[in-house]
Amino acid sequence: MLTLGIETSCDETSVAVIDDKFNILSNVIISQIDIHKAFGGVVPEIAARNHIENILPVLDEALKKANITIEQIDQVAATTEPGLPGAVMVGRVFGKSLANALNIPFIPVNHLHGHMSSLRLSNPEINTPFLCLLVSGGHTILYQVNNNWETKMLCTTADDAVGEAFDKVARVLGLQYPGGPKVAQTADMSLPFTPILNKFPKDCFSYSGLKTAVLNFINREKQKGNSINMPEICANFQYCAINQLLSKTKEFLEKTEIKTLGICGGVSANQYLREQFSEMCKSLGVNLYLPNPSLCGDNAAMIAAAGLLNIK
Ligand code: KG4
Ligand code: ZN
Repeated sequence: MLTLGIETSCDETSVAVIDDKFNILSNVIISQIDIHKAFGGVVPEIAARNHIENILPVLDEALKKANITIEQIDQVAATTEPGLPGAVMVGRVFGKSLANALNIPFIPVNHLHGHMSSLRLSNPEINTPFLCLLVSGGHTILYQVNNNWETKMLCTTADDAVGEAFDKVARVLGLQYPGGPKVAQTADMSLPFTPILNKFPKDCFSYSGLKTAVLNFINREKQKGNSINMPEICANFQYCAINQLLSKTKEFLEKTEIKTLGICGGVSANQYLREQFSEMCKSLGVNLYLPNPSLCGDNAAMIAAAGLLNIK
């Protein structure tokens, strides 16, 4: 049985084909980063228009790479929420129309469940229950994933998402969109520093205070005529951002006594995050699962996988 996945919720147009054993036959992704770079972030209207232009060629390429014809597809899964409304509509309407025309089932997929499913694609052995930390540009959520992949949200952010904070700090430092990977590359974690803001609310994640603390620091230094030590400020921010994730996740691992942790979403590609979580999980006797770096960002293979898993 073959599932076609479609993802258009933000600035990636992606179509994938996976089989019922979660093997990826193709996963074609066209990124619009170069288009949105000039504006310093994603422009929703431009994203939607580009999805319309890209979707058919991306579908053709995905079928070609999977070496199949469209008639061989058994079901279509597409992101239907959440996302930029105009952008998400392109994939949803396209997917539904395709399923209708082929007379096969259409599975609406929540984009966040898609990210979770990237854990299953990269780690077939992952077992429920597990805690799932989803860290992306739009979300910072800790879930408990129970049997049959039934999810329960344990904790979310009170304000900004962690990826969003990475992007905003990057922007102020003059690093190009999307800034997360640039901040990570610039950070020199071997430098000494005093954490700029290592406090956050008790019951949730929060990144707007950290973002503001970094922005204020940069502005003060500029006013004093001091130059900004980029590797140091990026390291300081990255330390505080990841430390918050470590500390909250540890709290819930201990509270729930669950011994498996999965981390997914764009920020899970961050090398420092991977190293720190790996160390923490080792010390707690927790099994850590991560997606392959190529599946951390938005892609349609994870959407097809979520369709197959039928996550609730
Ligand atoms: O999951 P994703 O591709 O899209 C959303 O659903 O939001 O996540 C994108 C986010 C962006 O904020 C980007 O800056 C961040 O993930 N990101 C990173 C890294 N790679 C991507 N943040 C920190 N370090 C990275 N290496
Ligand atoms: Zn995403």
